[in-house]
Amino acid sequence: MLIAILLIALLLEVNVKKIIISVALLCSLATNAQSVKVSSPDGKIVVTINDEQKPSYQINLENETIIMPSRLGMAFKKVASFGDGFKIQSLSKNSVNNSWQLPWGERQTVQDNHNELLITFGKNRINANTFNLRFRVFNDGVGFRYEVPKQQGLLDVEITNEFTEFTIAKPKQATAWWIPARGWNRYEYVYNTTDVETVDRAHTPFTFKLDSGTHVSIHEAALVDYAAMTINQKRPGILKADLTPWSDGVLVKTKTDFKSPWRTIQISKDAVGLLNSNLILNLNEPNKLGDVSWVKPGKYVGIWWGMHINTNTWGSGDIHGATTSETKRYMDFAAEHSFSGVLVEGWNIGWDGDWYNNGDVFNFTKAYDDFDLKEVTTYGASKGVRLIGHHETSGNVTNYRNQMSDAFALYEQHGVTQVKTGYVTDGGDIKRIDENGIIRKEWHDGQFMVNEYLHSVTEAAKHEISINTHEPIKDTGLRRTYPNWIAREGARGQEFNAWGTPPNPPEHTTILPFTRMLAGPMDFTPGIFDLGFNGLGADTNRPQTTLAKQLALYVVLYSPIQMAADLPKNYQANLAAFQFIKDVPTDWQESKAIAGEVGEYVVFARQERHGDDWYVGALTDENARELTFKLSFLDKNKKYQAQIYRDGKNAEWINNPYEMIIEDKNVSFSDSLTIPLATSGGVAIRFKALN
Ligand code: NOJ
Ligand code: CA
Repeated sequence: MLIAILLIALLLEVNVKKIIISVALLCSLATNAQSVKVSSPDGKIVVTINDEQKPSYQINLENETIIMPSRLGMAFKKVASFGDGFKIQSLSKNSVNNSWQLPWGERQTVQDNHNELLITFGKNRINANTFNLRFRVFNDGVGFRYEVPKQQGLLDVEITNEFTEFTIAKPKQATAWWIPARGWNRYEYVYNTTDVETVDRAHTPFTFKLDSGTHVSIHEAALVDYAAMTINQKRPGILKADLTPWSDGVLVKTKTDFKSPWRTIQISKDAVGLLNSNLILNLNEPNKLGDVSWVKPGKYVGIWWGMHINTNTWGSGDIHGATTSETKRYMDFAAEHSFSGVLVEGWNIGWDGDWYNNGDVFNFTKAYDDFDLKEVTTYGASKGVRLIGHHETSGNVTNYRNQMSDAFALYEQHGVTQVKTGYVTDGGDIKRIDENGIIRKEWHDGQFMVNEYLHSVTEAAKHEISINTHEPIKDTGLRRTYPNWIAREGARGQEFNAWGTPPNPPEHTTILPFTRMLAGPMDFTPGIFDLGFNGLGADTNRPQTTLAKQLALYVVLYSPIQMAADLPKNYQANLAAFQFIKDVPTDWQESKAIAGEVGEYVVFARQERHGDDWYVGALTDENARELTFKLSFLDKNKKYQAQIYRDGKNAEWINNPYEMIIEDKNVSFSDSLTIPLATSGGVAIRFKALN
C-alpha cells in the first residue's frame, strides 16, 4: 500500500507544484524496503533512492546506469550514525523552471529547470534521529545534499565520516582526468589521464568518460562552513566521498541544523555538454551582497611575470619590481592600451628573506620605501587606471586576519577595488594560532580554510573590494552568492611555464575546460608573447604552445578578469597580435562550447555583453588538427568581419611557435570556417558586427 501511495504521489508531480506526503502515518507500516524516484524535466535522468538495509541512490541516463546503487549517510563522533537501518519516512516534491541573472559571467541569463525531492529518513523507534536528503535533478545532472535538523541529542556535531559513494560499473573501461588530493602542491598538478580503476585519491571536479562515451563530472556546489570533498577509491569503481580533515582529524565541526554542500554529478552524452552546464551555479544561493555594481570585470597587466622569470624580485634591492616609477610605467602602458588595472606584487614589507616559508613577516599596510601607494594611485586615477592590490600570506592566516581590516581599509582609501590574495605554503601546512595560542597546521581545503577564504571575501565586500584568490579553496559556484569573489587560481596556471617541473604540457589547457573550469573562473594569466625567454625547444621552461594558442586562451579559459601576463616590451614588439588581447572582452552575454574532446581540443564561442560582437577561441593538444565549425551562433540578421589570428602554415610549438596569420574574412551565420591548428596551436577570432 505504501508503495502505491508513493507512486500516485510521484505521478501527480506533473500537475501539482508541491506535494508533501506526511508519511508519518505510513511509517509505522514501513517495514518493507521502499524505493522512490525523481527524474529530470526532460525525463532522461532518473534518480532512484532506496532504503533497503542502508540508504542508497542510483542514477540512470535513459537506458544507461551512470551511478550504480551507492551508499548515503554520515557518522558522528558522539552519536549514532545516519546509515544502516534508516528508512524513508516522508517525501516532499517541488518543480522549478525559472531564470535568473548573473551580474557578470559567461552568460547573462541562467535557466534553472529542475525537479526536487526532499526525503526524510528516520528509524522506527522513539527518539530516534532523522535526517533529510534533498535531490535536485536537472537535464544536465544531479545535485543532492544532507540537511540535518535541530533535534534532541544532536546539537553540536562533529562529523567523522561521510558515507556517500559514487559507484561506477567497469572502472577499467572508463577514462578519468584527475589530479591527486591531499598533496603538498594543493590543486597545482599536471593532470593524470588513466582508467578509473587506477585513480587513487582525487580532487573534484573529477571528470570521467564511461565505456559508452557518456561523460560524467563529480564535484560539489556551495561549499560553505564544511570540509571540501575529495574522491577516494575504496574498491574498484567505488568512489567514496573523502572530506579533508581538520588538524585534529575531525572532518566537520558544526551545529544543527546544518546543510552539507551539494554533491553534484554532471552528466552528458558527449564531452561538450559538460561545458554548457549551469548546474553548479544553479545549486548556489542567490546574491547576498545586494548592489554589486562596484564589482568590475576587466583586463589587467602587472608587475608579476618579471619575478617569475627572475628579471625582477619581490623583495627589495636593485631589481625590485614594485617601485613607484615602474608602477607608473605600467600604468602608462595600461592607459595607452585600455587596460583597467595594474597588479603590483612585492610592494609591502615582508618579501625579503624566506617569505616562502614564513608568512609571519608580512605587513599588509607598510610599503617598501621605493613604493609610494598614494602617489601611484593618484597617478593611476588621472589616467583611468586602478592599482590592483596584492596580499600574499604564505599561508599564515592568523597574521593576515589580524591585519585584514586595516589592510582592506588602506586599499579602499586609495581607490583599490580588486585584491589578489595568495596562500603559498604546502598542503596541510596552513598556519593558524588557535584560541589557546597553540600553532595548528591545516589543509587549504579543510573546513577551517573554507571559512577563512570566505571571511576574506565578505570582509573585502565591506570595502567594495573584489577578491582573486591564489592557492585557493576550489570554486564551488559561490560567485553567485558573493559576486565579489571574482576569480581564483586552483590549478596549474601560466606561472608553471616560468619555473615548473615540468612546465604545463601541451594538453594541459585542453583538459582544464572539462575539469577545473567546470567549477568556475580561473585566473590563469594567459598571453605570454616571448615564448623563448629560456630558449625555444621542448625541454626548456616556457609555455609549450604557439603564439596563436596564447590568444585562444582568452576565450577558452573563462574569467571576468584576464591578465596580459607578459612584459610590456614583448607586446610592444608585436602590436598586431596584441590587438586581439586589447579587443577581447571579459564579460559575456552568452557562451557556447561548440566542439571538443577532453585532453584533445576544444572550441568556444562567446558573445560580448553590451555589444554585438562574437569571439571564438579554439586550441589543441600536442597534435596538429584541422577544425571545421559552423557559425550558426551568429545573429542571422547581421554580417560580420571575422578577424582571424591563426597558426601559420609551418607553425609548430617546439621550434616555430610564432608563425601566425592574421586575416579578415566577411562571414555570416550560414557559413562555416575550417582552420588548421599547429601542434599545441590555437586560433582566436573576433567576429565584428558590421551592421
Ligand atoms: C603564487 C601565485 O600563484 C602567483 O601568482 C604569485 O605571484 C606568487 N604566489 C607570489 O604571491
Ligand atoms: Ca599558484
